[in-house]
Formats: sequence, structure tokens, C-alpha cells
Amino acid sequence: MATANVMDKIVSLAKRRGFVFQSSEIYGGLGSVWDYGPLGVELKRNLKERWWRSMVYERDDIEGIDAAILMHPKVWEASGHVSGFTDPLVDCKQCKNRFRADDPRLKGTPGEPDGQCPVCGTKGNLTAPRMFNLMFKTFMGPVEEVAAVVYLRPETAQGIYVNYLNVLQSSRQRVPFGIAQIGKAFRNEITPGNFTFRTREFEQMEMQFFVKPGEDERWFEEWRAARMQWHVDVGITPSKLRFHPHAPDELAHYAKAAFDIEYEFPFGWHEFEGIHNRTDFDLGRHQEHSGKKLEYLDPVTKERFLPYIVETSLGADRLALVALVDAYREEEVEGEPRVVLRFHPAIAPIKVGVFPLVKKDGMPEVAMRIAADLRREMPVFYDDGGSIGRRYRRQDEAGTPFGVTVDGQTLEDQTVTVRDRDTLQQTRVAADQLRAFVRTRIAG
Ligand code: GAP
Repeated sequence: MATANVMDKIVSLAKRRGFVFQSSEIYGGLGSVWDYGPLGVELKRNLKERWWRSMVYERDDIEGIDAAILMHPKVWEASGHVSGFTDPLVDCKQCKNRFRADDPRLKGTPGEPDGQCPVCGTKGNLTAPRMFNLMFKTFMGPVEEVAAVVYLRPETAQGIYVNYLNVLQSSRQRVPFGIAQIGKAFRNEITPGNFTFRTREFEQMEMQFFVKPGEDERWFEEWRAARMQWHVDVGITPSKLRFHPHAPDELAHYAKAAFDIEYEFPFGWHEFEGIHNRTDFDLGRHQEHSGKKLEYLDPVTKERFLPYIVETSLGADRLALVALVDAYREEEVEGEPRVVLRFHPAIAPIKVGVFPLVKKDGMPEVAMRIAADLRREMPVFYDDGGSIGRRYRRQDEAGTPFGVTVDGQTLEDQTVTVRDRDTLQQTRVAADQLRAFVRTRIAG
């Protein structure tokens, strides 16, 4: 597959089949904000539910929370985001476009006569780089004044830190333990792009693990390995996954060590999850700024300490993009081209397509009954339009792992054929066993 236009094809498929639409499209769209359609919302939900299950349900040392997007403005002073969550930006005084100072398209030196704007091409109109905060501001209450400024959270993590004692006390956990959360975050990204890869509104799935200082490095290694394995288990191609350790000059202001998990997109290797050793930076800062003691008292050893935090931070939208890109294949089947999304059945938006072979002889009625029975447990698509081959292709493109066909034999012996999306093998299954047959194959 030529890499140059694979992304274009995926973007077009995503729109045509209802995975992702541009936000406010009828008004010309809103820059780098996207909406999920009927298939996209299922894909993303399946990924989020799987993450939640692995973090919160399958472990007894992690609790879930759902904190508000709006937080006390002092949170962001303590966290370092008011002063440090900035990008150096350059403005063109001629065409009013804004660029990151490290944008490779900029020529010459911004602020000097040779600085050239990549959009209007004029020289000498670029300002010297200025720091620009990425947080979205809004106003709380009826008056728009400085005192009423609040921010849309740029990461979900802080909602966990400020609730750490509440969770500890209400859940009766002991260090080491973790808190997991899925929620929206907002960043006024200046060079967004690559479809849903970098957006201004996105969802994060973050887990903060609180440990005794000195045990942080061991837990960091443990979580690093566990997170990589999780992606492999979701069906992402292992050879397209790698770690990127942060060099000292890449580390965020809060981190002692960090590894990105990267995926090889058609536009190169890029991060979609970060594992960070945040030390006691965050709790230390919140303790200082709130004046409230955030130390942990070990009930056994009676030691008091501020826990260190190992964070795993995964973008739900970026993960959905990884899943979509990784599943996309152009193949030839019986001399005919097909586009197929080879999702792991557990994350596929629709699990089963149900088709009557022909629209007569009572086949649609039987097929509809089968579809209704399957729908009690899983998303199903009933389709009686067009040739059976075309109906299979439509479900291939949606990534549906199983196609069930009701044919003449069904009317005689109550069996159906089940077509496997990937192997194309057809298996005859008794209609009353169908739900169990599919259930075991989509469990992941
Ligand atoms: N709490 C740590 C934190 O937020 P980050 O590396 O800035 O760390 C973590 O972000 C993850 O959140 C990224 O790996 C990515 O998946 C997702 N993410 C961050 N900014 C994003 C954006 N503008 N659009 C989509 N996803 C984003």
C-alpha cells in the first residue's frame, strides 16, 4: 500500500462508514475537533470499556473515579500548567497566521528581516517567538472578570491527585494502590493535524499508581511492560509498537523518567500512551499550595511519607486511531478487491451481520428473528439489500467479524452459515447455538 494516500483512504472510509465526522461540518468545520459516528462511538466505547475492565475490575488495588472537568484555578498554578504548559509561537503580522516556533516550514529567523511566513510568503512580518499557554480559559459565574477565570482541564490526572485522600479513606485501600479515570481533556493545540491524532478536545484514560518512595522504579518498570502487553492483547500488530524513552531534555516538568508507547502510523512513529514517573512532584505541590497535609500514614510501619506516582496516560481517541489504522487492509478475494477492517472481534463496532440469502421463501423472517435474538447481547446489522457478496463487503469495511446467512438449508434443518471475516471460512452452526458460538469468539 502506498503510504502517501493510505491516510486519505482511511479518513474517507471513516467518514463514509460513520466512524468519524468533522465537528460542525455544515458550518465549514471547527479546526481539529471531531465527532464520532455510529461505528466510531462503538469502537471507542469498546476500547474504553476494555481499559476500564483491565484497570478497575480485574485488579483489587485500583479504584475508579470521575472528576469534574472544571477545577479550582489554583490546581493549575500548583500543577505548573499556568506557568509551564506553553509553546513558543510566532505570528505573521501580514496574514495573521500563527505558527509554532519550531515549525519546519518557517524560513529565516522570526523577529528578524529574513523571517519568512510559510503562508503569505512575506519577509520581515514574523514576530519573535512568544510563549502561548495551551489551556482553554472560560469564566465561571455571571461576570467576565479575572477573578472568575477557570480552565478546561488539559489532563485528567489532576482530578485524581486532588481526590487521592478521599479515595484512600473511602475505599480503605493502602499504598501501593491506584486510581483510574476516563474523561475529556482540552488543549488549544496550535499545530493540530493528522486527522484525530492531535485534537483540541480529546479523551484520556489515565491511571495514577501511588507507591512508597524507593519502590517507584520497580513499579514504573512493571507498568511499562503491562501497558505494552495490553496493546498487543487488543490485537495491535506488535512490530508496529515500540517504546521511546525520554531523554532528559524531553521530560515534562513533573517527570523523573518517562517512556512513550509509539505506533508506526502512515505518517511516522508517534506516541499514543505515556508512562511517567511523576515522583512526589504533584502531591508535593498540591500540599504546598492548598496547605492541606497529603501525607500517607502507613498503618503497619507507622511511617509517614508523600507517595510517589507512576502514571499511565493513554489517549482514547489516539488509541481508536491506532486501532483503525492497524485494522485497515486492502486485499484481493476471489479475484475481487476488498477493503477490510480486521479489528480484534472484542473491539469491532458491530459483531455480526445477518443476511437472508434471498428476499423470499420466509428467509427474511427467519433472519430477522435470528438478528433479534443476537441483539439481546451484541450489536448486529441486518441487511437484505443487494447480492450476498456486496453485503459481505459492506460488513468487511465496517470490520464486522462474523456474517450469518440464512439459506434454503436453514428452512430444513435450522442451521445457518457463519462466515469468518478474516479466513473467509464458512461454518454451519445450529441457529439456537449461534449466540454462544459468537459470544465465545468475541470475548477478549
Ligand atoms: N497526564 C499526562 C499527560 O497528559 P501527555 O503525554 O501530555 O501526558 C498523554 O498526554 C496522552 O494523551 C498522549 O499519549 C495522547 O494519547 C493523548 N493526547 C495528548 N494530547 C492530545 C491531543 N492534543 N489530541 C489527542 N490526544 C492527545
